[in-house]
Amino acid sequence: METVLSGIRSTGNLHLGNYFGAVQNFLKMQEQNNCYFFIADYHSLTTYPTPDDLHRSVRTVLAEYLATGLDPEKATIYVQSDVPEIPELYLLLNMNAYIGELERTTSFKDKIRTQPNNVNAGLLTYPVLMAADILIHKADKVPVGKDQEQNLEMARKFAKRFNHMYKVDYFPEPQPYNFGKDLVKVPGLDGTGKMGKTAGNGIYLADDEKTIRKKVMRAKTDSGPTEKNQEMTLPVKNLIALMELVSAPDTIQFFKDKYAACEIRYGDMKKQLADDIVKFTAPIREKILEIEGNSKFLQEVAEAGAEKARKNTKQTLKEVREIIGFRKF
Ligand code: TYM
Repeated sequence: METVLSGIRSTGNLHLGNYFGAVQNFLKMQEQNNCYFFIADYHSLTTYPTPDDLHRSVRTVLAEYLATGLDPEKATIYVQSDVPEIPELYLLLNMNAYIGELERTTSFKDKIRTQPNNVNAGLLTYPVLMAADILIHKADKVPVGKDQEQNLEMARKFAKRFNHMYKVDYFPEPQPYNFGKDLVKVPGLDGTGKMGKTAGNGIYLADDEKTIRKKVMRAKTDSGPTEKNQEMTLPVKNLIALMELVSAPDTIQFFKDKYAACEIRYGDMKKQLADDIVKFTAPIREKILEIEGNSKFLQEVAEAGAEKARKNTKQTLKEVREIIGFRKF
């Protein structure tokens, strides 16, 4: 049986990128594996949420994940800050993480560019905390989207470095995972990059029908193909990529053929896409509303999850401390 771990930062609501990049794979795996799912609230502190917002986001994310079908009977679901062994392992791993390699990560370089006035040490060591999240459970597989590929590479590097330094075969090398395929990058609606929480280009599982329709109808396209079989521009490719997540294959083919024949009407295509997204998200949204109103259930899940997770994390930390040489008198 393999150990599978996945997580999400508690910033904002869950969008289609999170669902199709990570959750969907995790849901398939929770049936057979030893699965852990957690909410990364320490990671969210790099952006300074207020105390109320911090708690509210953790609660929202927990409710939304449960609404997608994450089953507390099958997977261990917990909040990162309920497990003190994680920050302790983070401290230990930090001793073998080098400033140069952390500074070179793409996400850190992006942050320097996008928020030059807040380049804090938490951002620099973000991949070390992620490695601690993963290694504390000695996870083999980590279902994530394409944007987390480099962080996973760092986690493997820290695992190998630890094993090498202490001449042990202790941590497995965690692999990013998507069912037999490349990692997914779900595009946003603005015609450029990936769907993201901060980018404001996303469709959220909790969005109501009207909001979804409005967002999709406003999505960027172009002025249309002028020659038959012309290559699609990026914004149009992105809409097709979104259709590939929620629409039937013959529907997608229909619009591809229309494009190739220069007969595409983007309005029709967007209407179809909005219909299919709504069909997909509506039952999840209904569950979100139901679960969000059930504080007792949320509390029970978080408490039981932390307890279950800590059985494992305590054991790992005990062994790591022994390997490093912390001994009792
Ligand atoms: P976060 O919260 O940004 O995203 C959670 C998961 O959703 C995936 N994802 C996407 N996949 C495809 N297309 C997109 N547009 C898209 N946007 C987001 C992410 O790849 C991720 O799998 N640092 C992490 C949280 C974390 C974590 C971990 C994850 C902390 N520790 C340990 C795995 C293992 C984060 O901020 O993800």
